[in-house]
Amino acid sequence: MRTHYCAEPGVAEIDETVELCGWVNRRRDHGGVIFIDLRDRTGIIQVVYDPDLPEVFATAERVRNEYVLRVKGRVRRRPEGTVNPDIPTGEIEVLGQELEILNASDPLPFMLDEEEVSEEVRLRYRYLDLRRPRMLANMQLRSQVTRLLRDYLDSHGFMDMETPMLTKATPEGARDYLVPSRTHAGRFFALPQSPQLFKQLLMMSGMDAYYQIVRCFRDEDLRADRQPEFTQLDVEMSFIDEHLITNMMEEMIRRVFKGALGVELPDPFPRMSYEEAMRRFGSDRPDLRCPLELVDVADLMQGVEFKVFAGPAADPRGRVAALRVPGGGKLTRKEIDDYTKFVGIYGAKGLAYIKVNDWGGKGREGLQSPILKFLPDEAVAGIMERTGAEDGDLIFFGADKATVVNEALGALRVKLGEDLGLMEEGWAPLWVVDFPMFEWDEKENRWIALHHPFTAPREEDLEKLESDPGACLSRAYDMVINGSEVGGGSIRIHRREVQERVFRLLGISEEEAQEKFGFLLKALGYGCPPHGGLAFGLDRLVMLMAGASSIRDVIAFPKTQTATCLLTEAPSEVSPEQLRELHIRVRLPQKEQP
Ligand code: AMO
Ligand code: AMP
Repeated sequence: MRTHYCAEPGVAEIDETVELCGWVNRRRDHGGVIFIDLRDRTGIIQVVYDPDLPEVFATAERVRNEYVLRVKGRVRRRPEGTVNPDIPTGEIEVLGQELEILNASDPLPFMLDEEEVSEEVRLRYRYLDLRRPRMLANMQLRSQVTRLLRDYLDSHGFMDMETPMLTKATPEGARDYLVPSRTHAGRFFALPQSPQLFKQLLMMSGMDAYYQIVRCFRDEDLRADRQPEFTQLDVEMSFIDEHLITNMMEEMIRRVFKGALGVELPDPFPRMSYEEAMRRFGSDRPDLRCPLELVDVADLMQGVEFKVFAGPAADPRGRVAALRVPGGGKLTRKEIDDYTKFVGIYGAKGLAYIKVNDWGGKGREGLQSPILKFLPDEAVAGIMERTGAEDGDLIFFGADKATVVNEALGALRVKLGEDLGLMEEGWAPLWVVDFPMFEWDEKENRWIALHHPFTAPREEDLEKLESDPGACLSRAYDMVINGSEVGGGSIRIHRREVQERVFRLLGISEEEAQEKFGFLLKALGYGCPPHGGLAFGLDRLVMLMAGASSIRDVIAFPKTQTATCLLTEAPSEVSPEQLRELHIRVRLPQKEQP
């Protein structure tokens, strides 16, 4: 239907006749001459209709925004003074000779160039939202990223293989989406939270190196960077160790950034232990663009009068940490109150601070703080020395269970970095390594796997698996970029006996292990190679690269925060016949019953 895409004709095509198809981006009536900006995926071109051809002109007069047109005309240079340097076709225009309206458009629910459109409306009319240049650019970036990822993996001998969507629960820590079976009354498939077990089985099948761009389903609380169905780039390799796989994967990510954004990422990525990340940044996904760091001061607070500090300082699971904010002395009372509320979200019961007005000149008298009166001189001097605080700075404090302090101050440091303009420009990738194998779950009173139960412990920690689980480190690794966990994985357990020990430690009985993972345990007995891999959150990676603030902006048809699709209005009710076939009776919660 066309000879060119809209953005293709240029000066080289002058005097050529072109045929174009697209949408009316804008129609302007300039007293006797009609200008139509015709748009397709590639861009915009200006088409001019004058009244010399009365029939064609009459058609042009009927055209409205977002009509779909087929245009034929001659390319000519734009008159002096009307050149638009902002678009590729800005030096030319098409003098329209024919015009066919392929389809009309109803009046739009919002203007495509309108900035402030509610997300609800955008998602309801996603097909219109996707016509917007920013959304189109995000989708194009996503396509380019997946192509670059595939190029790398294809050229390095990885096999692209598919794994089932109707399957058995795969434990990645979220709730399952279930699908009832018609043919087996009372039984359910689970949609995969990840292809974890299948990719391990593929290694046992001798496939050696696998990848898949695959949908995963997790029924969990949603956030700006989480979706109930999301896409992973899933990778697994045999006969490797953590160095080989992390080296390859960071090379792949470097190529993707170079190819899609022209950005050179560091080579190699820095590696940081989980312990160091938590100690310095209060987070296992530290944003290294932010220069602020946590400093431990518990030893200085032993037995001080201020119980808020002395308590956690004496508790092995407690933490007392300081966060120096250069130039923070200018923060107002109100701002400090707002930050106190902010850390409250993470469970912090307060946010003590010291303003350093004139430490150099007046010493203790030069400090301003509601907690100063509770602190002996040595403690104050110790804080000042350890944080390196200078006049004009402010020091924040967190004291509580270590988990609370880490979450609160970890989030606060990034927020302060952003609010005070302290973030460094650019990209800060790193690997976080040496994760603990297990984490103690206070609520359930048992050990849980920090990564997943198939992650191998370090060889040297095998012997203390039962005697000191908390001290065992795993062979897991996470790739973090600008404070976002874009990928993670591990070397896996490949010996049945170790897998059984880990299950036991996690409180999974032999029976339960057989019922849930019997197929894996059996397969481990038939010649399983050492293997490992990882998975990237493709949506998160693209979101980061696009500079988008929501994961929904890089997914063509995303779900809302409450896991619904506004476009199709899924989930929806189904007919009684369907339910009967599935052997299901619906019991709504009391209040929702009609
Ligand atoms: P993990 O659970 O860490 O590992 O997931 C891998 C990556 O997937 C992304 N991700 C998500 N993205 C969007 N929405 C979500 N709800 C969501 N959940 C996770 C993250 C994360 O880093 N099977 C293992 C991988 C392995 O060991 O090989 C796994 O799924 O970016
Ligand atoms: P209070 O003794 O509750 O008046 O608190 C004195 C100061 O300590 C206030 O600035 C509080 O914000 C702060 N504070 C209270 N609890 C904590 C805590 N757990 N960690 C850090 N600061 C706290």
